[in-house]
Amino acid sequence: MSNFLEVENLSKSFGAVSAVRNFSISLRSGEIKALVGDNGAGKSTIVKMLSGALKPDGGKISIQGSEVVLSNPAQARSLGIETVRQDLAIATQQPIFLNVFLGRELIKQPFRLLDKKLMRKQANDLFKTLGISIPDLDLPIGNLSGGQRQAVAIARAANWGRSLVIMDEPTAALGVAETKKVEKLVKDLSREGVAILMVSHNLDQVFRLSKNISVMRRGEYVGEFQTNRTSVNKIVFCITGQK
Ligand SMILES: Nc1ncnc2c1ncn2[C@@H]1O[C@H](COP(=O)(O)OP(=O)(O)O)[C@@H](O)[C@H]1O
Ligand SMILES: [Mg+2]
Repeated sequence: MSNFLEVENLSKSFGAVSAVRNFSISLRSGEIKALVGDNGAGKSTIVKMLSGALKPDGGKISIQGSEVVLSNPAQARSLGIETVRQDLAIATQQPIFLNVFLGRELIKQPFRLLDKKLMRKQANDLFKTLGISIPDLDLPIGNLSGGQRQAVAIARAANWGRSLVIMDEPTAALGVAETKKVEKLVKDLSREGVAILMVSHNLDQVFRLSKNISVMRRGEYVGEFQTNRTSVNKIVFCITGQK
């Protein structure tokens, strides 16, 4: 089976700061890979380049074997890449069901009105499929707990990103129970064939979920490790460069 995503020697500088040097990775359907590194290692810069939010200075991104230039997030989404961002791009005043459709609302002809009924139903079906329990989809999303909000953000990504979902620290702000739910969601998505690239500070989580671990250190790509053949100590050593 060929890779959905193939990244070779991706690089990005901000003025004199070399944020990412020669990062490479490949991801196939259903694969969960983790991306780790200390603060400032270049993880979010990589996420932004793969989601079309930031233009690389060099390197090559291929999707299903063809080289692509991701010039904006909408284009990356149209190619099947969805990103759950660290800062949760969610409209807090909007009803929950509308958040699943932000920027892609369903319209009813002939008057071009929002088709709320259909969107509510589709959101309900989606949450049901993913096992997310939310009592009232008409409430503003600001009423939900952090974990529920994160679940909605992931559900949205899952709904549109049928091929690759990139998550930048999806559980950093969550409690233990909420984190468990998000982890289950990630596993379920992978079982459905969605490739997942997960940035996480939580090494226990990385070891629970991922098949491979990519390490960045100060913008440098250190390498990729098979999760079941490495250890937390080895990864910590790679992240920090110290024992
Ligand atoms: N827009 C930007 N302008 C200037 N420097 C940036 C910008 N974004 C990131 N950087 C720098 O690039 C490096 C990598 O940052 P980042 O990718 O956010 O790291 P991480 O997500 O691993 O913490 C850091 O030194 C950071 O200060
Ligand atoms: Mg970051």
